[in-house]
Amino acid sequence: MTKKIRIAIQKSGRLNEDSLQILKDCGVSIDNGRDQLKANAANFPLEVFYLRNGDIPQYLRDGVVDIAIIGENVLIEKGDDIAIAQKLGFSKCRVSLAVPKSTKYDSVKDFEGKKIATSYPNTVMNYLNQFGIKADLHIINGSVEIAPNIGLADGICDIVSSGSTLFKNNLKEVEVMLKSEAVLAVSPKIDTERQVILDKLLFRIRAVLKGRD
Ligand code: PRP
Ligand code: MG
Repeated sequence: MTKKIRIAIQKSGRLNEDSLQILKDCGVSIDNGRDQLKANAANFPLEVFYLRNGDIPQYLRDGVVDIAIIGENVLIEKGDDIAIAQKLGFSKCRVSLAVPKSTKYDSVKDFEGKKIATSYPNTVMNYLNQFGIKADLHIINGSVEIAPNIGLADGICDIVSSGSTLFKNNLKEVEVMLKSEAVLAVSPKIDTERQVILDKLLFRIRAVLKGRD
């Protein structure tokens, strides 16, 4: 039996739909829905694992999956050792620092000694280190933008897409730390047989992306 390439896709959230769409545009149809954590492609040697975003870098590292469609920001935070085969051009966002609108803000130095709520501690720490700034990080996994309003933090770091979550929570974006989009990431443990399948898939993905330009 020939091997199948194992791809991780976000289980739910903003990457899920576009990830399945790009596979579909590549002529890879997945025969059952999101209710199952695993699904097979009908016409391509590929199986899909629906996983939580934050878990995907570790699955790639361990070789439990061969490839993944994931936000570059998640790789930067948790998997900067993992290779990117192709940027995919969707789910564009920024990872930014924000503070309450009413806070007077001059420069990144204003974060010295401040409390920052975030799900991206490594990204924030690396950024602030460049400026020699030490802040107090509060790691939370979601609804980060509420933290200043409930007195948990002076500022936040999170992804910004349309900016509407910042707006609704009376926050202003003050530092863009990085820009991100969905990427196809590859496990360092992918074997040669599956690398051949990956090359076929990449060929199709690149053709699709070219058509979208
Ligand atoms: C994400 C992210 C931001 C928001 C950015 O949250 O954490 O809060 O989207 O998008 P916007 O700029 O278009 O408003 P999500 O809604 O995925 O929920 P979570 O933070 O609770 O995981
Ligand atoms: Mg959020």
